[in-house]
Amino acid sequence: ARLVVLASGSGTNLQALLDACADPAFGAEVVAVGTDRKGIGALDRAAAAGVPAFTVRVKDFPERAQWDAALTEEARRFRPDLVVSAGFMKIVGPAFVAEYAGRFVNTHPALLPAFPGAHGVRDALAYGAKVTGCTVHFVDAGVDTGPVIAQGVVEVRPDDTEPLLHERIKAVEHRLLVDVVGRLAREGHSIEGRRVSIP
Ligand code: GRF
Repeated sequence: ARLVVLASGSGTNLQALLDACADPAFGAEVVAVGTDRKGIGALDRAAAAGVPAFTVRVKDFPERAQWDAALTEEARRFRPDLVVSAGFMKIVGPAFVAEYAGRFVNTHPALLPAFPGAHGVRDALAYGAKVTGCTVHFVDAGVDTGPVIAQGVVEVRPDDTEPLLHERIKAVEHRLLVDVVGRLAREGHSIEGRRVSIP
């Protein structure tokens, strides 16, 4: 399966996918990396892996819908079977979501539906949650609302800080994302209501 990975940050989830794809038995290859910013770790990782990259910045377009159209068009050039949002910190628009419905997954650093949004780790900590984790889900038109594919649990420690907790979540997240993407790539999925199963 051809993967386009969207990222906005350091790209450790991207790296986990790149590493997994090095094994042909994994059944997927990262054909492009898309970002909404320049000068980020994810672009360095794409370059190091010899994977083409594109950057589409919101501020370069007068209207958000034009950004959405441009992002959709860039991704389309690489004919992805699956699009993975791996720490992509922009809400993608309706054109993109429609084009990749059922083929677009996101990873979120909390146990959805708890703590959606941009600060899932901070919010879980501030709430006093004793367990949190990560969720890989299909993207729909909402923010972190699409059907859950898989989740991983991480305990919150009494002396946790946001960076410490996020590091432990990421360790679980990397494995979960690689597992889900590999299984989707090799086996596909079926969905009944919101309940996703991978055969
Ligand atoms: C991940 O925890 C992702 O779920 C969150 O931001 C982090 C991105 O990390 N939204 P990286 O860029 O993959 O290192």
